[in-house]
Parts: sequence; structure tokens; C-alpha cells
Amino acid sequence: MSIEYEDIQGLLRFGYKHLTQACFLLLRIRDAEAARAWLANAPVTSAITRKPPPRTAMQIAFTGAGLRALGVADDIVEGFSAEFLAGMSSDESRARRLGDLGANDPARWQWGGAQDRMPHVLVMLYAVPGELDGWLRTIRAQCEAGFEQLDCLGTSDMDGVEPFGFVDGVSQPRIDWERERAARDQEQFEYTDLSCLGEYLLGYPNEYGGYTDRPLLEARRDPAALLARAEDEAGKADLGRNGSYLVMRQLQQDVEGFWRFTDSQAQGDAALRKRLAEAMVGRTMEGEPLVVPTGADRLNAFTYDGDADGLRCPFGAHIRRSNPRNADLPPGWPDPISRLVRRLGFGSDSLRNDLIASTRFHRLLRRGREYGGAPGEDVGLHFICLGANIARQFEFVQGAWLTGTQFDALPGEGDPLLGHRLPGADGTPTDGFSMPAASGPDRGLTGLPQFVTVKGGAYFFLPGIRALRYLSKVQP
Ligand code: HEM
Repeated sequence: MSIEYEDIQGLLRFGYKHLTQACFLLLRIRDAEAARAWLANAPVTSAITRKPPPRTAMQIAFTGAGLRALGVADDIVEGFSAEFLAGMSSDESRARRLGDLGANDPARWQWGGAQDRMPHVLVMLYAVPGELDGWLRTIRAQCEAGFEQLDCLGTSDMDGVEPFGFVDGVSQPRIDWERERAARDQEQFEYTDLSCLGEYLLGYPNEYGGYTDRPLLEARRDPAALLARAEDEAGKADLGRNGSYLVMRQLQQDVEGFWRFTDSQAQGDAALRKRLAEAMVGRTMEGEPLVVPTGADRLNAFTYDGDADGLRCPFGAHIRRSNPRNADLPPGWPDPISRLVRRLGFGSDSLRNDLIASTRFHRLLRRGREYGGAPGEDVGLHFICLGANIARQFEFVQGAWLTGTQFDALPGEGDPLLGHRLPGADGTPTDGFSMPAASGPDRGLTGLPQFVTVKGGAYFFLPGIRALRYLSKVQP
């Protein structure tokens, strides 16, 4: 079956890198009827290939609160995932798991924390240089009747480099648009970037070979057949199809603090300072991996197979935490006996294997943009990722791999870039960073300051375009 690109919002397919200017409007619905009227015809940009590529683009997403404010019936809203409905800042347990403690506490966020700072709708605007202001004016004028603006988040074009100075956006999953990848719940032993469509779009099989839960409606709820019919449940209208969840977090970066700390550790040796910073990220500032590439793609064809001791890329480096690739496979893999031993759970390090096994279930499609950077202004990353399952993708990566102090059996560490550095409930420190050495004990840094502070965030649903039109027609 061919892919309905005309029904998919383009950000998922393109990322709009050529539209280097962007801003994100956080809106609250003031008048639901006027809001629905705008959404019915809003000029949202699809994933169809256009030649020449568009000069502007717009994407629209909703929080759970936004769907309710729009007038969508409760039983439909409740078909979305529990974590989406609860929201990123909903409770203490989630905040602890995501590392939103201390300076990251949602109570301090500029948006997405307190109820009255919770956006209903996210309108993402992208444009070629010189055209964003006009595009923003047009859309604002259209939205005026239905919405009030909570915030307008600006972005900065830093030419593919994030504020600490590292090339960003190198490693991404490759979406299996052709649906050629066999989707099944079975261990696979080759690391690949190719990832099932259903990991990013609702309504298609995911890496388990199943369909992620989403609102499926009785056909009578969609008499005009605005929605596609579900592939997995005959006759049901699929409100999720061609939609995705969008996670957004405003992450302020203390660039000066980052380089001051690495400089003090390197005692002013500029080359060593750079190497330390690169060890924390797991790539050189220019984007090269620290491990030896295994294929033609020098920047991304690699696994941690050849670096089982973490001598080249520390286990706790940001990219090794956020995507351990196949680091869980013991050396010599895949011989059938050790595979069986592991399957049965008898391996001596089976616990560790379990924790970081099957990275293919935890891939994130990153679509973030940098912001700020003028003198005296905050600087950071509007982290954005797309996925069909917030709990299994973003929350797992953020919670178990980046924030978790058990990752890869590393004691006393969190992610070296993102960690909040507060001790765990049992007093375990989280402010260390170890770098295994070929001989002798690991080299280690202690007392890492916090370099990144969460300033806002929310979970959104980025609907397919037919679903967007359906949502604009709901009768409250
Ligand atoms: C200010 C915050 C952050 C900074 C400065 C940052 C920086 C970087 C850099 C420099 C890379 C390497 C280049 C690349 O592969 O694109 C990278 C990769 C990555 N980051 Fe982050 N990041 C941040 C936040 C996050 C967060 C919050 C997550 C997830 C919850 C995340 C997940 C990833 C992933 C999945 C990769 C690719 C790893 C791979 O496949 O090899 N990052 N990041």
C-alpha cells in the first residue's frame, strides 16, 4: 500500500532543514468554535515532495488539554496514550523519572508546568531567511479569533551546531517508508538505522509487529468518512493514522559553565579540554564518532562492538547512553549457545543486557531547533522528538538511559550533558563521569555542575491532516 504523504505533516519526513528560520507558537483556545473554524482550513504543510521545496511550512499539534478545550468528546480523548493525557509535568513520580528535579522542577517552568501555562495548541512555523516575520504575521492574524498566545518561542540558526559547539542532528533513525522491514517481536542481531514506520506514525506496525494503541472510533462517529479506516480493526475509523506524538522540551544550556568546567579539569590545556568535552558527548565537535566506523558512512556507520571496554567512547557518553546501539551484545556474538544462554536469562550480565537490549524499541526522531545566543540572552535547545509511543521512546531514553544511575552499571553518574546532579533518594551521587583507561583504574570526573536546565515542556499529538480536519468538525 502506498504511503499517504498528503496526509502526514511534513516535519516527520523532512525536518525542514532548508527552512532555517522557525518559531513555535504556544496557544490557548479562547473560543472553541473560532478555533475549530481555523483548524478546518489551516494551511498545514504535508509530507508530499514539492519541487521547488516550500518556502514556508506550518505544523499543528495539540496537548491533551487542548483536545478537550477544542470540544473533543472524552471517550475519544481517552483513546490516546496515558502518558500523553497525563502530560509531561503531571506528577512527582514522572518528574523524578525524567530528572525534572531541583532547578528542572516543572513548578519553575516558563510554560507547560502550571495549569495556566499549559499550551493547548502548538503551531510550528518554518521559513526561508527573510520570510518568517511575514509568515508569523499571517498566521497570527488568522488565529486571533480562536486563540490567545501563551508564548512565541524563537529559534536561532546555528548552522547545524548546538550551543556547546558540537555538530548536531547526525544520527537519526531511517524510517521504513516502503514498509519493507519485517516487523516482528523477535531479537535481531544486526544494528541498523532502518526502523519500522509504526515507530513514528500511528496506524502502522511497529518494531514489535503490533499496532500502537490509539483512538479507534466506531464508523458512526465518522459518518462523512473523513478518517482512514484502521488496518488492524476492520471498519473502525483511525484517528491516530498518520499522526505522531511530539515531545518538546526547552533546554537552556550553560555554555560558559560547560567550558569553564572542562577547562578547569584540563588545567587550561586547550586540546585536553576539547577531548574531555568530546568524551562527554561521544563524538568530536566536528561530529565524528569516537569509535572506529564500520561502514562507508563515516559519521554514522558504527556500533560499540569494537569498544566493549569503553576505552574510545566512555559508556556514559551522551550518545552511548541515548542510543547504545548494540552495546548489549557480548563479544563473540552471535554464537548460538551464548544466544540461548542469554535468552534464558542465565548470562552473568543478563541484567545489564536486559537494560540496554533491543535499542530498536527506543529510537527517537529528533527535530529540535536551537534558540537564543545574542549577548545577554539565554541559549539552548528546543528539544523536539517524534514517536508513536512516548513511554517506550522518549520517557525510556530520558528516564532509564539518560537520567538513570543504573545505566550500564555505572555508579554515581547521570548523563554528562543533561544530568541534574542531585543525589538519588538513597544518597547516591549522580555528578560523576568515568572514562575507562587501558590500564589502571578508570579516570573520572567528579562534581560535574548542571549544564542544562529544563525551562518548559509538554507532550503533543501531531495529527494526520485528515484527523486534523476531523478534530475541527467535532460537535461538543
Ligand atoms: C541541550 C541538550 C542536548 C544537547 C546539547 C545534545 C547534544 C547532542 C549531540 C552533540 C549529539 C551528537 C550528534 C548527533 O548524533 O546528532 C546528540 C545525539 C543524540 N541525542 Fe542529544 N543533546 C541534548 C538533549 C538530548 C535529549 C533530551 C535527548 C533524549 C531524550 C537526546 C537524545 C539524543 C540521541 C538519541 C542522539 C543520537 C544518538 C545516536 O544515535 O548515536 N539528546 N545529542
